[in-house]
Amino acid sequence: MKIACIGGGPAGFYFAISMKLRDPRHDVHVFERNAEGVTFGWGVVFSDQTVENLMANDPVSGRIISDEFAHWDDIDVHIHDACVRSSGHGFIGIGRKRLLEILAGRARELGVEIHYEAECDPNLGVWRDWDLVIAADGINSRFRETHAEHFGVDIQERANRFVWLGTPKTFDAFTFAFEKTAAGWIWAHAYRFAEDCSTFIVECSEPTWAGLGLDQMDQAEAIALCEKIFAKYLDGQPLLTNAAHLRGSAAWLRFRRIICERWHYDKLILLGDAAHTAHFSIGSGTKLALEDAIKLAEVLNRPGLDRIEALAEYQAERNLEVLKLQNSARNSTEWFETVERYLDFEPWQFAYSLLTRSQRISHENLRLRDRDWLEETERTFWKKATGEEKTAWPMFAPMKLREMEVQNRIVVSPMAMYSARDGVPGDFHLVHLGARAQGGAGLVFTEMTCVSPEGRISPGCTGMWNGEQAAAWRRITDFVHANSKAKICLQLGHSGGKGSTRLGWDGDNLPLVEGNWPVISASDVPWAPVNQQPRPMSRADMDEVKGQFVAAVRMAIDAGFDMVEMHAAHGYLLSSFITPVQNKRTDEYGGSLANRLRYPLEVFTAMREAWPSDRPMSVRISANDWAGEQGVTPDEAVLIAEAFAEAGADLIDVSAGQTWADAKPVYGRLFQTPFSDKIRNEAKLATMAVGNITDPDQVNAILTAGRADLVALARPHLVDPMWTLRAAAMANYRDQWVPPPYLGGMAQMARLFEREAEMRQQS
Ligand SMILES: Cc1cc2nc3c(=O)[nH]c(=O)nc-3n(C[C@H](O)[C@H](O)[C@H](O)COP(=O)(O)OP(=O)(O)OC[C@H]3O[C@@H](n4cnc5c(N)ncnc54)[C@H](O)[C@@H]3O)c2cc1C
Ligand SMILES: Cc1cc2nc3c(=O)[nH]c(=O)nc-3n(C[C@H](O)[C@H](O)[C@H](O)COP(=O)(O)O)c2cc1C
Repeated sequence: MKIACIGGGPAGFYFAISMKLRDPRHDVHVFERNAEGVTFGWGVVFSDQTVENLMANDPVSGRIISDEFAHWDDIDVHIHDACVRSSGHGFIGIGRKRLLEILAGRARELGVEIHYEAECDPNLGVWRDWDLVIAADGINSRFRETHAEHFGVDIQERANRFVWLGTPKTFDAFTFAFEKTAAGWIWAHAYRFAEDCSTFIVECSEPTWAGLGLDQMDQAEAIALCEKIFAKYLDGQPLLTNAAHLRGSAAWLRFRRIICERWHYDKLILLGDAAHTAHFSIGSGTKLALEDAIKLAEVLNRPGLDRIEALAEYQAERNLEVLKLQNSARNSTEWFETVERYLDFEPWQFAYSLLTRSQRISHENLRLRDRDWLEETERTFWKKATGEEKTAWPMFAPMKLREMEVQNRIVVSPMAMYSARDGVPGDFHLVHLGARAQGGAGLVFTEMTCVSPEGRISPGCTGMWNGEQAAAWRRITDFVHANSKAKICLQLGHSGGKGSTRLGWDGDNLPLVEGNWPVISASDVPWAPVNQQPRPMSRADMDEVKGQFVAAVRMAIDAGFDMVEMHAAHGYLLSSFITPVQNKRTDEYGGSLANRLRYPLEVFTAMREAWPSDRPMSVRISANDWAGEQGVTPDEAVLIAEAFAEAGADLIDVSAGQTWADAKPVYGRLFQTPFSDKIRNEAKLATMAVGNITDPDQVNAILTAGRADLVALARPHLVDPMWTLRAAAMANYRDQWVPPPYLGGMAQMARLFEREAEMRQQS
């Protein structure tokens, strides 16, 4: 095949090499616009896995590259004049210029023709004469842009500014250095990639960049300023640029995240950064480019595969890898964009938050990397949280809310069971809640318990509007208090426009087959076309419902609850006021956020007044309507949380969505935790995270990184009431309270986990 590779970056050269290796008869040409040896950037980092892939594909270049790698293990995080060093991270780095030199040399050796100073124009007819044209022309690919519509290009320009510099100062650890200036914070990502040279990327927010005047400076001035800011890390060594010709604002880039729906168009194929990018803070762009090249060469040369099939396989396999990395890259990018919220963390927690920012490195993974450092971090967490000297999983640290102390940070999230009769919790609820309390969670929530018969979601919902119900709840709280160390919280709510529907398993939010009751809401917006049109609440309705909430709170005192939560999420009555997708009112209860919050806050305040001042109260909110600017956004959620905290909420239970039927949530592991993180660290409030959190490792990471104070699990508890005891056995944590009759089972489980761990270590 006659193949043109546009671009002499890692992707173009490595594809050319990989094609020649598989079939020397291919006539491969690389066209590079720059002169030989002229390139942007300094060092690039790889993982061991990438090196293995390179060795397997081409041992000759793989060997040269791996012999020249600079290796280092430590990460230093400098903040507030402290340095937190952790180890075991295992990076390898090489200069970009040297990498390209090695690849160009190897390509030539294999017979690839390289044309430097050859700017390629995608609009020229000459490309028709080639069997394949490989667009390896980087992030700003002209070849991709010529057919942008076909490729389905999605480009997102990120917020921060960065510049890629070098320095002869050799760092002995991957170094993150955060410095405060009069215009805001600015930081460096620095690592050594050769005997005498390190990469030094400087990053800051756009306002800081402009505030420091970097937008007006030429490169020399900008570099002089950076040298001054980071002087204490540079030991008198200069910062260097290899893009001196660019003016300040041109050299300081904003990262462009690229996604393409399709990676080929007839004989034009996208490769590397032209097809996709991954933020430099996870250092994987070159890896992706090289691995794309291997895969593309492999499928194009596989006997029996025609080109269409080959390209389909290329995109399918590589896209999966790219999506995984872009997910981590997005988390990492966002961390640096929102770093302001973590800057008052103590250095140990700031470093932990930074290390776990992409969610690729978990708590236990950090233990594998550097056990001593992680244990010290756990000890500090415990000391701060409890004053106790203890090295144990953070999830087991007790916490106090007002005078209520929970034995650990695990919460059984509220879950409707649809199993009550006339609102009275029965044996099912006693066993269900009792078992989960015995299962070790620090706090157990009841399901949404409704303040009136009409406030129920379904005829199977529990209620708190009469003495029979209060007595039935008392039986349950007594059991929990007598037979476990758990605390129990009553979630109170009113279904609003989402009421009068079937039991959960008979169809989500579908109206009853018969016996529907009229529903009320903030406005007359039906949940979905099949649902009833609610009656907008009058002031008299508001007084009545508020009275019902207060009466329920008073009954909760008699019923022995430790805590009460007001449910203001998921599109139910109080949520229908908060969210603009449901609230269409034109009076003082609609429109601005202050107006939309007026009634829910009024109810909350009345409940708080009725609830003993030594017992805590929380509120559950939907922190994102998943409706863009038309709904509640995470930014607005911070204001909502602050308003409830001011009204006396001790904990914000941060859920999201379910506020309108057409929402398009972005699901995934821990998908709502970022909202908890935002509220906790921007509003400085105690929060509870929930949503697709399934294992102890995730819980420990969330807590240690300060992304939440408590962690609620719903579905995992449905099938495993003993979730917390199992975690305690896994951690061999002896201080977890266990129901005495179950001690033998705990000991056995702990032994089995220990043996499993030993076998893993041996294998
Ligand atoms: C600040 C920063 C730090 C980074 N750090 C790392 C890191 O540590 N590890 C890592 O793996 N990755 C890192 N990357 C990403 C990495 O540089 C890219 O992902 C990688 O270079 C992609 O390789 P590529 O061959 O697809 O594109 P490029 O390396 O961009 O190569 C494209 C080539 O095409 C040439 N070209 C473009 N248009 C034309 C044309 N019309 N005609 C002829 N030639 C053309 C360009 O001159 C260029 O040489 C970083 C990126 C940045 C911005
Ligand atoms: C069966 C079931 C019933 C639920 N009922 C309630 C409820 O009554 N009140 C509430 O606020 N959330 C309710 N939820 C939402 C959960 O509390 C939780 O926020 C959600 O399931 C995400 O957590 P998970 O991924 O751990 O399941 C319910 C979830 C499930 C699975």
